[in-house]
Amino acid sequence: MLITIPDVLSAAEVAQMRAKLDATNWVDGKVTAGYQAQRVKENEQLPETSPLAQELGDLVLKGLARSPMFMSAALPLRVFPPMFNRYRGGGKFGTHVDTAIRQQVTTGQRIRTDISATLFLTPPEDYDGGELVVEDTYGTHSVKLPIGHMVLYPATSLHRVEPVTRGARVSSFFWIQSMIRTDADRAMLFELDQTIQRLAVELPGSPLGVNLTGVYHNLLRRWAEM
Ligand code: NI
Repeated sequence: MLITIPDVLSAAEVAQMRAKLDATNWVDGKVTAGYQAQRVKENEQLPETSPLAQELGDLVLKGLARSPMFMSAALPLRVFPPMFNRYRGGGKFGTHVDTAIRQQVTTGQRIRTDISATLFLTPPEDYDGGELVVEDTYGTHSVKLPIGHMVLYPATSLHRVEPVTRGARVSSFFWIQSMIRTDADRAMLFELDQTIQRLAVELPGSPLGVNLTGVYHNLLRRWAEM
């Protein structure tokens, strides 16, 4: 399931973050890439341990916490501290699969990467190229979103970032370990939750909503890993 979540951050929050990001030092993105990805990755990142990455990562986490759609789509158990990258001057990230298990530098905690996330911090008209291209069972998707918007996609997918030929593409990226390991099960729960919410609007007060909500929670109880 590939899903766009609008307005995780406001335009004002993104502007604040960009002012700080544009004034700081970046390092070669190969430092966090595995052996296979190192050969195809050409971008810059903030070091994971940099105080700025941690400060801005906390802002991203706050944005996620107030997004019901993120909670419904990801059913997060753990979120890897958000990181930041920049592509410019032809920078790109060739086709790869994300590392399955990642360890936080600061805490040593490991997470299984079920879902990959990219939060866009540059207006699309400010750069050419830089599309996130995701290949899943339903074909190839090309993603380029307004500022503050985020895409979630299965970390199991092959994906790439196209070369940035004008301007610079700055984003936050991170991974989620979901309480629901497989994408297909998570997609069904998301569909059910969205349907329950539509039902509440279209048939307010209907007892059917209670039944469906019961099914939702009982499936979650059966499938959730904690
Ligand atoms: Ni990736």
